Amino acid sequence: MTAHPLVLGIETSCDETGVGIVRGTELLANVIASSMDEHARFGGVVPEIAARAHLEALEPTLREALARAGITLDDLDAVAVTCGPGLGGALMVGVGAAKALAIALEKPFYAVNHLVGHVGVDLLHGQGAGAVDAPLELPTIALLVSGGHTSLLHVRSLTDDVELLGETIDDAAGEAFDKVARLLGLPYPGGPQIDRVAADGDPRAVRFPRGLTLPKDLVRHRYDFSFSGLKTAVARHVEALRDRGEPVPVADIAASFREAVADVLTAKAIAACGDLGVPRLLLGGGVVANARVRALAAERSLTAGVALRIPPLSLCTDNGAMIAALAAQRIMAGYGPSDLGVGADSTLPVTVVQA
Ligand code: KG4
Ligand code: ZN
Repeated sequence: MTAHPLVLGIETSCDETGVGIVRGTELLANVIASSMDEHARFGGVVPEIAARAHLEALEPTLREALARAGITLDDLDAVAVTCGPGLGGALMVGVGAAKALAIALEKPFYAVNHLVGHVGVDLLHGQGAGAVDAPLELPTIALLVSGGHTSLLHVRSLTDDVELLGETIDDAAGEAFDKVARLLGLPYPGGPQIDRVAADGDPRAVRFPRGLTLPKDLVRHRYDFSFSGLKTAVARHVEALRDRGEPVPVADIAASFREAVADVLTAKAIAACGDLGVPRLLLGGGVVANARVRALAAERSLTAGVALRIPPLSLCTDNGAMIAALAAQRIMAGYGPSDLGVGADSTLPVTVVQA
């Protein structure tokens, strides 16, 4: 294997079909097809629809990625894929495709962890990877927030030492945004909509609950998250207004809800940095687009003396480049390929960087 392996990465864990190509840490292509529009009328990702959409999108997405990178399949040194965590049926499409490619091309097959990929993406440089100020330093705390996951990690080594500090015990943060948007009458996906209307609202209008932040919760759930109580509180609040025939101040409620989410996410992440003596925080996942999450993370990192890293948004949301980047790290660290018998694992633990 060369010093800078040319790796293809396939990502199909949720509603984005992503194909990325990297050479070592250089980003060559990052092409994404999303089935988001097909889920809109259901107000959330429908697993069966996502899986079918991956089947249709994979081949054209792969072709476009190869064209953008200016390479052919024969040039590849390895084929990588997300094998978990994620939606079972959706993962299986990517895993099946990656195995077929690896067998047909006689290239090594690397099945890697989606969550760790979100961190690994920050190593990439080159076109589309944004300006690199300084290389990613480890250990780092990583907060990954999307429609499918809300996880706080302690990453000592990208290739083989990742610890799960905490995660959501119910809804993912993005899911909470989507559900609250729905009850405020805003379209799917709700995150960007809430973010937009919240800009004109008062974040102090309603004091919504901060899940798992009471002293008794902090004993067992210091780094865990919970958003279902918050969602219910917003629903009750809106119901009470409607019952009284009062207008619903959508901007104020959106701003107050957004504040509650941003507050808990950043407070717990910064607490982890302090507790573990790790002055670095990396953000990933689609919710990182949120203006308040970004602002509060920046503010609290500065106060706590924590170096904050946020990859460009195109690399924060689910993509294949992060999977290729992580597999390239494993290859460069000397790890061999995955067994072709490896399957999709919707609950793959974060400690398993490569299956
Ligand atoms: O990482 P991502 O694209 O992948 C999936 O989870 O599929 O994240 C999408 C999630 C959705 O729940 C969406 O509502 C949320 O990220 N999101 C946001 C914003 N933009 C996207 N949430 C809050 N504020 C935003 N600006
Ligand atoms: Zn993700």
